[in-house]
Amino acid sequence: MKLAIGNDHVAVEMKQEIQAHLEAKGIEVINVGTDSTDRFNYPISGYTVAKLVAQGKVDGGVLICGTGVGISLAANKVKGIRACVCSEPYTAKLSKQHNNSNIIAFGARVIGIETAKMIVDEWLGAEYEGGRHQVRVDMLREIEETQALKAAEE
Ligand code: RB5
Repeated sequence: MKLAIGNDHVAVEMKQEIQAHLEAKGIEVINVGTDSTDRFNYPISGYTVAKLVAQGKVDGGVLICGTGVGISLAANKVKGIRACVCSEPYTAKLSKQHNNSNIIAFGARVIGIETAKMIVDEWLGAEYEGGRHQVRVDMLREIEETQALKAAEE
């Protein structure tokens, strides 16, 4: 398995710990985030991770900023991305099972490292259930492909 990981300047330490946690499980991790505490704008790494996921170059992505919000917003601008911000493992698991999330995001200023590891582990261990959920995921794709454009035209 190969994952991409990205972060901003407030999430360097957590990113490094999560990367090490994933690598200890034998997962290949492409780090596109910053390793410096100098200001680094989260859309850069959110977009880069999202592109790698959308292009099928990695199997999924992990994004970390202060809250997980800004960096997931950037990722969700990319077609085909379902980036979910989670502060506990239950939502992380369900985001894969029901929403087929392909990026998990969280906030280094919101949760501690052990919760972050649990979130990542539950997300990786979960499988998308398809079935009735596929109808809804297809609806998300339809909004992405058609409705946003219509709204802009109206
Ligand atoms: C950086 O100060 C902070 O705004 C960022 O890490 C993140 O929380 C944004 O959503």
